[in-house]
Amino acid sequence: MMQETKRRLFVTTALPYANGPFHIGHIMEYIQADTWVRFQRMRGHEVHFVGADDAHGAPIMIAAEKAGRTPQEFVAAIAAGRARHLDGFHIRFDNWHSTDAPENHQLAQDIYRDLRKAGLIFTREIEQFFDPVKGMFLPDRYIKGHCPKCDAPDQYGDACEACGAVYSPTELRKPYSVLSGAVPEMRRSEHYFFQLSSSRCEDYLRGWTQGVDARGVSHLQVEVLNKVREWFTRDGEGRHGLADWDISRDAPYFGIEIPDAPGKYFYVWLDAPIGYLASLRNHFDKGQAAAHWHAPSRTSQTYEEFVSDPAVEQVHFIGKDIVYFHTLFWPAMLHFSGRKVPNQVNVHGFVTVGGEKMSKSRGTGISPLQYLDIGLNPEWLRYYLAAKLSARVEDVDFTPDDFVARVNSDLVGKYVNIASRAAKFISQHFDGQLAYMGATDAFTDGARALADDVAAAFGAREYARAMREIMAHADRINAAFDTAQPWILARDQARRAELQDACSRALAGFHLLSVLLSPVLPVTSGRVARTLFGMDRDFTWDDAFSLPRSVRPYQHLMQRVDPQTLERLFDAPEAATSPNPMPGAVMSPTPATSVAPGEDTITIEDFTKVDLRIARIVLAEAVEGSTKLLRLTLDAGESGADGQPRLRNVFSGIATAYKPEELTGRLTVMVANLAPRKMKFGLSEGMVLAASADDEKAHPGIYLLDPFPGAQPGMRVR
Ligand code: 2FM
Ligand code: ZN
Repeated sequence: MMQETKRRLFVTTALPYANGPFHIGHIMEYIQADTWVRFQRMRGHEVHFVGADDAHGAPIMIAAEKAGRTPQEFVAAIAAGRARHLDGFHIRFDNWHSTDAPENHQLAQDIYRDLRKAGLIFTREIEQFFDPVKGMFLPDRYIKGHCPKCDAPDQYGDACEACGAVYSPTELRKPYSVLSGAVPEMRRSEHYFFQLSSSRCEDYLRGWTQGVDARGVSHLQVEVLNKVREWFTRDGEGRHGLADWDISRDAPYFGIEIPDAPGKYFYVWLDAPIGYLASLRNHFDKGQAAAHWHAPSRTSQTYEEFVSDPAVEQVHFIGKDIVYFHTLFWPAMLHFSGRKVPNQVNVHGFVTVGGEKMSKSRGTGISPLQYLDIGLNPEWLRYYLAAKLSARVEDVDFTPDDFVARVNSDLVGKYVNIASRAAKFISQHFDGQLAYMGATDAFTDGARALADDVAAAFGAREYARAMREIMAHADRINAAFDTAQPWILARDQARRAELQDACSRALAGFHLLSVLLSPVLPVTSGRVARTLFGMDRDFTWDDAFSLPRSVRPYQHLMQRVDPQTLERLFDAPEAATSPNPMPGAVMSPTPATSVAPGEDTITIEDFTKVDLRIARIVLAEAVEGSTKLLRLTLDAGESGADGQPRLRNVFSGIATAYKPEELTGRLTVMVANLAPRKMKFGLSEGMVLAASADDEKAHPGIYLLDPFPGAQPGMRVR
């Protein structure tokens, strides 16, 4: 409603590391933010919505080296794939930039200089492991050795996976570098610190974290604030807990050079959030800012003008794993460098798939590109997520059955159907003209009340509540339509006015619902506005308060989900088009048609194509809903591009032969280069080998392979 003063909003989502494509968790965050942005724009507010790739840091530098590319080339290749995802899900950033862009180098250095002027930067020598072969200091994650407590081999520098002990890398026995295998040396180096422990910072942050902005909205959600409060007291005894922040890394490092400190770079987490500002600046410098919020009167805003306007609200959308950076470091950096601080840091939970956690490094779950490639409608996902998202820090679970139900019964069954049912009569009998019998005040008052409630819900990120209210209203519209029995009225010439009224009210209701659903369904609502109601623009929020006077003939708006198509979301990409989408990622005993030993031959080259590895079964678990499968978490001695240990998830059809507890901790043999396969229960990333008789009936039994003592995870079997 336009009497509300115009807000000036700067909205961001977390900047994704440029070391892999988007996973479904990124897409959820972008959809959450994009929905909010679209809603604010419909209300007439000015919004600048920007993102960027988070380009810097050791993991990306190392991944680029492995790929034989410069970090810049590596990051550019990742960036090239972004638009397809974003466009595919109708996520409309005003600008997408990179933290390696010149704007970010400049801004990071400026902010650092301002913090130094404020007296909050100091240096201290620290001791750290150094890889003499690679010639670089090693982050904790790149050092392995024997656990100082239980002596388990191959443990990472921060914690032991065998006994759970937590320690520092210097305590490891027989340490080695994951990058080169060399024995690391202890070296001293001067590091730069941000003095977060100072009382100035603490006082400021205690205030800010509990604060509200000019509109009375808290900077943080309640559960986030509770978490942050714990960080102020480290040991539960009220002892001051914010530690100073090590913001420097030594060369070689892919990052931004620290001014007046040769060979020193900013730690990636210092320049990453500054990338929000860099992308905003780039957006303004490109001169797009004015165009994007449809304000022809304001043609030449500059970045400086915008960020110096105290009315501008800065709103960040982030996941629950990066709260520390955004609620402590980031506001402190901004405040003490004399800049605008965030108004809201909106934290969401993770996406789970069938109750299954996803991991950032493994990116298990469903692939956003596959979703698009197999022809699923992006608005189904937008609606499904909206129907499940609240302003709380809760995980959002994607389950196929639930997805089908919400889309087919709510979105298509309740909402779209109204138009297809009612418009038919109007076109047939009334030449597209709508007319209402009697007063429409109650109708418009009802619309206003609903639109206000839904607006409050969208504004507060309570999308599930908004969707519930919208669908409850769809139910009311359908019920009124059914009660009027238009198919009976249509047979009676004398009741034409009643028929027209019933259909007009249903279509006016549909018009209202379409306005309210616009932030979630931008394409469908745009089509409704243009093709059904003959408008020459998309809906704005105020359209909720007007009664439509005519419609054009109904054109198909939205398909139902075919559950079989949805199943293909869980196929491996290669299998998506194959009639037999089971390329054996699940170990299955020899099929009946197998050849007898010696009957056919392959070359040694054929054999060596199969990458067989010793793997440790770190964990074996029953799979709920399956009597055949066990879920195995396997360690085949690998680490991911980010240097984290890479554990594989493999589903194996051995549940009839083994109890999970018999297998945990044991070694076996796995096929490590089998294409991953998405299954109903999650991603299967390989297969374990087992023996069974050709004639399973005569000789039942499945026997997992078990290497002789001495074999280690990761060893090749050949
Ligand atoms: O956790 C991550 O994926 C980081 N790349 C997020 C950075 S958000 C912001 F600070 F740039
Ligand atoms: Zn241990």
